[in-house]
Amino acid sequence: MQQITFGMIGGGTVGSGVFHALDRNGDLLAARLGVRVRLARIAVKALDEPRPYPIPAALLTTDWTAVVHDPQVQVVIELVGGTSIARKVVLAALELGKPVITANKALLSAHGGELFAATRKHGANLYYEASVAGGIPIIKALREGFVGNRITALYGIVNGTCNYILTRMQQEGADFAEVLADAQKQGYAETPPDLDIDGCDAAHKTGLLASLAHGFWVEPKRIYVEGIRHVSKLDLQFARQLGYTIKLLGIVKTLAAPKAKAGARIQVSVYPTLIPKAHVLASVNGIFNAVFVRGDVVGDTLFYGRGAGKDATASAVLSDIADAALDLAHGTHGRVPAFVPHERRGTVAPMDEVVSRYYVRLSVVDRPGVFAKVASILSGAGIGISSIIQPEGHEGETVPVILMLHDAPNAALQKALAKIAKLPAVKAPPVMIRVESCV
Ligand SMILES: NC(=O)c1ccc[n+]([C@@H]2O[C@H](COP(=O)([O-])OP(=O)(O)OC[C@H]3O[C@@H](n4cnc5c(N)ncnc54)[C@H](OP(=O)(O)O)[C@@H]3O)[C@@H](O)[C@H]2O)c1
Repeated sequence: MQQITFGMIGGGTVGSGVFHALDRNGDLLAARLGVRVRLARIAVKALDEPRPYPIPAALLTTDWTAVVHDPQVQVVIELVGGTSIARKVVLAALELGKPVITANKALLSAHGGELFAATRKHGANLYYEASVAGGIPIIKALREGFVGNRITALYGIVNGTCNYILTRMQQEGADFAEVLADAQKQGYAETPPDLDIDGCDAAHKTGLLASLAHGFWVEPKRIYVEGIRHVSKLDLQFARQLGYTIKLLGIVKTLAAPKAKAGARIQVSVYPTLIPKAHVLASVNGIFNAVFVRGDVVGDTLFYGRGAGKDATASAVLSDIADAALDLAHGTHGRVPAFVPHERRGTVAPMDEVVSRYYVRLSVVDRPGVFAKVASILSGAGIGISSIIQPEGHEGETVPVILMLHDAPNAALQKALAKIAKLPAVKAPPVMIRVESCV
């Protein structure tokens, strides 16, 4: 049986998971592919570092360049993480014409343009199934499964840490800080947690999904990002009373369909969102990820699974290993191109122009006339109120007032909120969370 030889840089959480999974299912893979996969060398930082799954010392080296340049190594797997050594590894391998597999969304987000250009220049493929939503095969689904569709909407719960925190806040009525501290203790959140809770990790993944779905490279700076720090247990409680839950969503939506000479105009953003409790995404809880994709031919689809962890991520890397092995074995390295620009003139709409519905929570002094002033500012901005709730009970000298607002552009809403915040009776900055029906 033909054999394809792989070299891996990184033998940590994911790397050791890949080694273990290949050890366990290598024969199955060979039987299915008709090609045997051999993992010849693995570069790590420290040979004696304890690993989630042990790797035989004979396979290890601390010299990644030796692995990339090893003439026996036909495909390089980058599982180092970060954007500095990882970028060098990927470029060095591509320049040698060797296909590369990576799980590194931060690297692709920061340097995707350069790396995908290198794949075209050197005729070597870049596979990145594990970079978004761990074990969920969403890259393959978008690239191959939906190749005959225009993707009109995509909603992703793609950060397990945020979903875990929001789920526990919802289920236990607990505060953000309390749940975050516990999540860090249990290993569900990093220390420091900023990359996850400020929405950056979700933005890396959402940008990749948007680029694939719409065929033009979405620059990270075009993505509007809000994390979950400002979501309070009060908001989760009120959301529930109104028939919603709150999820951190990556959103990619077509705002204007492509015309003959212009590409699609799309929204690409990450922010906490009220979604109806009855929507399938509302029942995606804990560390789980899900991606809801709507295609113009297929209709609505949903992908669900573990978004991280050594085994789930290894499963995605194995899928890339299989593709790379088959592509090399059959000389079809362009069969699943990494990224094919096809909507060169597509644009990401500025958030100011994006139209949403809104949940707004105000802390106001309980006296007559306050609501009339708030309503007058909103109507002056052309923003309609769909409902208003004033729950019983005080928070000190103030009472909460919850407004649900009709569709309005973000810029108009922000201006109105700035005016409302200046009213003497409004005692804290207004809390605003966008609302999506996801239908
Ligand atoms: N963890 C997850 O659940 C998950 C999920 C999806 C995607 N990813 C992505 O997968 C990638 C790897 O993540 P991870 O969690 O496996 O990271 P990790 O556990 O920190 O492993 C990193 C590995 O890189 C090695 N390394 C660091 N510097 C090196 C150098 N200069 N030369 C050679 N090896 C070096 C480390 O060696 P030592 O072992 O000797 O320290 C370690 O084996 C990242 O891009 C991450 O974003 C991770």
